[in-house]
Order: sequence, then C-alpha cells, then structure tokens
Amino acid sequence: MKIGVFDSGLGGLVITQAFINCLPDYDYFYYGDSKHLPYGDKTSGRILSYTLNAIKYMISCDCRLIIIACNTATSIALRYIQQRFLPVEAPNVKVLGVVIPTAEVAACDNAANIGVVATSATVHSHIYRTELQKINPLLNVMEIAAPDLVPAIENNNFKKAELIVHRLVPSFSKCDSLILGCTHYPLVKDFFRNMLPKVKIVSQDELMADKLKNYLYRHPEIENTLTHYGSRNFEVSLLNSHAEKVAQKLFSKIELKESKSI
Ligand code: DGL
Repeated sequence: MKIGVFDSGLGGLVITQAFINCLPDYDYFYYGDSKHLPYGDKTSGRILSYTLNAIKYMISCDCRLIIIACNTATSIALRYIQQRFLPVEAPNVKVLGVVIPTAEVAACDNAANIGVVATSATVHSHIYRTELQKINPLLNVMEIAAPDLVPAIENNNFKKAELIVHRLVPSFSKCDSLILGCTHYPLVKDFFRNMLPKVKIVSQDELMADKLKNYLYRHPEIENTLTHYGSRNFEVSLLNSHAEKVAQKLFSKIELKESKSI
C-alpha cells in the first residue's frame, strides 16, 4: 500500500520530492489533476467533485494514506472527504491536508500577526484564519489572494512572478509570519524572503516532510500497512509537452504518465 500525494497540477511534486528525500523507502503515487488546473478560481462544487474523483482513483491505485498537497482542495474538500466519504466508502484509508500542519508551524514562536497568500478559493474559505485562531484566538490573520501568481509560475514566467510578489509584499511587511498557502509558491519563496527579510516565510516544502514523519510515528496502525519497495508512480489527468517540461524542472528523472481511468 502506497503513500499518495494529490495536487491540482504539478506544484505538489515539490512536496513529494521532500517526502521522498526524508522517507525514501515508502512507495509513492502522485496524481496531478492537470486537466482541471487551476482549481483556485473554480466554484466549491467543482473543486469538491474533482478532488473526490481524484481521491477515489488514488484509492483504487492502492493508496492507503493520501496527502492532499493542494491548499485549495484541502480548503474546500478535505472536511467532506474525512467526515462523509471515507467512513462510508473507504474506512481504512486516511486522507490528510496541508493547512493544519502549516498553521501549526506559522503560529509558533510568539507570532501575533500572520499573513496568508493563497488562491482566491482558499482565501475566500478563510480556512487559514479559522485554523490559526483555533490555535491562538488572539492571532491577527490577513489573507490575500494572488490569482495571477499560479498562472505566471505555470507559464515559467518568473519575471512576471517576481513583479507580482513585489506588488504583494507591502501588505505583509508588518507580519511576523507569512504562509505561502499554495503548492506553487515554494518555487518563488526566495522572492518573498528577499523582499521581506524580517518576516518568517512559511513554505510547505520545508515543513510537510517532518509532519508526515511525525504522523507515521504517531500512527503505527497506518505505518504498518504501508509497503517499502521504494517505488514511485507519477500520473496526471492530462499529459502534454508543457506538463512534461514543468515536471522535469520540478523533479529530476521523472516518468510522468497520463491516467486513463479518470
Ligand atoms: N494547487 C493549488 C493550491 O495549492 C494551486 C493551483 C490551482 O489553482 O489549482 O492551492
């Protein structure tokens, strides 16, 4: 049984690479719904339905523990999947998201003001504010959407991405921590770090592997079901030369396949 990593596209490969570096023996299955990317500007109904289909497919591919690396899918679909879908359809499968682990890291170190930059759907869900204020109700949370940042990164236009970050950073200059709440943003974390040297930039590629390791340690009943052949499978719902190029950039020696069954 494998560890599954789901994202709306290929950005989640960065987190998968961190998982593999930290926990190389496990078997991994990556699924990116590149056909429906971006999720960030879709309705909640669509995001839920795409995410649910992806999770069903990943379960059919022997994933026993699935990490939804996509912040947008976590914001909109995780609660439904955990509370409604899994208990009835797949009680032995665990599905985790990225928001709570990220909020836990951002809220430590006596932070009082926390910024969040994310897609429109994630920002409008206010999931980060909700989870951060569960940890500390006194936290001041500022969530700002950056709808043009994912397309700039996807199009490999890092000059434009830098300009977008430049436009965003003044709003976060008084923050103690800034959460980069989207799978694509680790690719531009240095822009944020250079432009906001006094702010702790919370980037999910740097925290999720430790969180997964800790989860496996605390849940031997899940860990014991996972196999350790070191296999890796990478699938997307739509494979074209652009997706291949992006994948090669994010993950060395990747063999990407198009899924036929979804
Ligand atoms: N993967 C999405 C996220 O982390 C960003 C890309 C999209 O809009 O689908 O929120």
